[in-house]
Amino acid sequence: MDFKLDLLPEEKRNHECLSGVETLSFGQMRSDHMFVVDYEDGEWKDGRIVPYQDFSIAPGAMVLHYGQAIFEGAKAFQRDGEIFTWRFDKNAERLNESARILCMPEIPVDLQVEALNRLLDVERNWCPGMDEASLYIRPFMFATQDSLGVHPSAKYTYCIMLSPSGPYYAGGFSNTVTLLVTEKFHRATPGGTGAAKACGNYAASLRAQEFAKSKGCGQVLYLDTTNTFLEEVGAMNHFHIMKDGSIVIPEFTDTILKSITSQSILELFPNARQERIKISEFLKQVESGEIIEAGGFGTAAVITPVGKYVTDDGKEYVVGNGEIGEHTRAIYEKYVSMQRGETEAPEGWLV
Ligand code: COI
Repeated sequence: MDFKLDLLPEEKRNHECLSGVETLSFGQMRSDHMFVVDYEDGEWKDGRIVPYQDFSIAPGAMVLHYGQAIFEGAKAFQRDGEIFTWRFDKNAERLNESARILCMPEIPVDLQVEALNRLLDVERNWCPGMDEASLYIRPFMFATQDSLGVHPSAKYTYCIMLSPSGPYYAGGFSNTVTLLVTEKFHRATPGGTGAAKACGNYAASLRAQEFAKSKGCGQVLYLDTTNTFLEEVGAMNHFHIMKDGSIVIPEFTDTILKSITSQSILELFPNARQERIKISEFLKQVESGEIIEAGGFGTAAVITPVGKYVTDDGKEYVVGNGEIGEHTRAIYEKYVSMQRGETEAPEGWLV
């Protein structure tokens, strides 16, 4: 597809971009331009790079009523003036998996990759180079048909916007989070949309997250709907580390989003494996010291250490000594140094 370039005139572009910026929060800043393409009559058309601006959609646009909307999160890094993307092809494939679950059209992976590369070329000055910062890439797709019948929309828009960002959790890797283990809220049900990066999954998690905050916890560790198995955290997958150093990630089911970071760790570390994890066993093993470290894997969250779990009855389970453990630190350092191009990553991961 030929993309139209409708760029800001030179004098309106933000040439200062990141100069003088020392710290970045997550997801607040925008770059000058975005990529947009529309779907109509069974095909993607009118791919364009335009100034970052509001969309105009009908009040009856189906996304506003029935929530057909999906998104992705990826990152680009800057090193010696060059921009590198990290496994964006995996994000593009996962967006299509989400599209299938939400009855939305797939968008060719090549088109997504080409669109991003062209946009990054225009926006190369927006990619930060400081520690723990990146150019956060947010592709998303939403239903635009003006119709109030409940059925898949016939029209969609796909967009990629960019946000120079710091770590998702303030303080970055130096802090641990506390997770609430609750039986009161569930993120997803079998046969539902839990394996999709559907916007509605995040809307549905807000009440639980506010509840967690009211209990002094940063996030919820979601259980399956029978309250038997540990699933994921919502903003990230979950992992723990056994005394022998092995890394355990919950087995992917249709109620867990397949984190690209988790998949990468499984490929990079021969001692990483997946299991169905019973929450009762898990908490016992945290208490007995069988489990020595724990945390979350996610694009935005990278590798986030968990210091303790709190259950509905207020009981606290501290992991190890509650501090960041050496295994978690080693995983973090290896992963981040690959993303930054300081350690060689597997072929095709850093592009
Ligand atoms: C990401 O990790 O990129 C996500 O999309 C999670 C989101 C909650 C920030």
